[in-house]
Amino acid sequence: MAYATEEPTPANRRRTRVHHLQQWKDAGERWAMLTSYDAMTAAVFDEAGIPALLVGDSAANTVFGMPTTVPVTLDHMVPLVRAVVAGAPHALVVADLVFGSYEASDEQAVHSAVRLMKEGGAHAVKLEGGVARASRIRAVVAAGIPVMGHVGFTPQAEHALGGYRVQGRGDAAAQVVADAKAVAEAGAFSVVLEMVPADVARQVTSTLAIPTVGIGAGADCDAQVLVWQDFAGLSERTGRFVKKFADVRSTLADAARTYASEVRDGSFPGDEHSF
Ligand code: KIV
Repeated sequence: MAYATEEPTPANRRRTRVHHLQQWKDAGERWAMLTSYDAMTAAVFDEAGIPALLVGDSAANTVFGMPTTVPVTLDHMVPLVRAVVAGAPHALVVADLVFGSYEASDEQAVHSAVRLMKEGGAHAVKLEGGVARASRIRAVVAAGIPVMGHVGFTPQAEHALGGYRVQGRGDAAAQVVADAKAVAEAGAFSVVLEMVPADVARQVTSTLAIPTVGIGAGADCDAQVLVWQDFAGLSERTGRFVKKFADVRSTLADAARTYASEVRDGSFPGDEHSF
């Protein structure tokens, strides 16, 4: 399995498994992850060689227009997971456990994770929290489900954390390190580090045996993840840690304006579009 650094071709591509991510960390190869919430973007990203896709609870914002990730439910998520799995024949598909689906007990966490695997067809689940959630991770892993952790800024706890803020500055770095270690010790196969100072992410990445996946965590993580609407320039506003790799918002808006104008002036549909 070598396509973290090679150009992907149909011949050299197999389904990414969690052990491939570990092999890449051990070999010092970096890889990219994107969110996806539908079959078409999943197919495009899979074909482009993105080895892991996240059906994030950011779907609350990007798909359902909710103000935070708090209201989104497993019932919202399951069809999105199914669509991404259908569109991506090679990528490892990780699905988010939403707020309210795992906090109450280890049993609730296992039940919710099983739904994402069984009804959605996910290959792994992700949940937010470190030391406080270690027991949930242990229980889900013991049920045979790979778990990706998520520490640093955890959007489901936005109200408790006082809004979107960098976590782990100064003395608070020790908590981020402890959270990441707890996640790894509980059996997670990797951990997202969101909005933490680059030097803290570097320390966590060199300390943990499992891969770290950064978002707003500097360049030294083993992998990076971005919300696709952010990286493609579709989102209206993004965090400072986002680089826009395209300007899909302008492209779509221009296309919509041209289409509307051609309908108004009668130039679309032309003879070539008519039967
Ligand atoms: O839901 C999501 O998109 C995420 C990423 C920001 C890591 O959790």
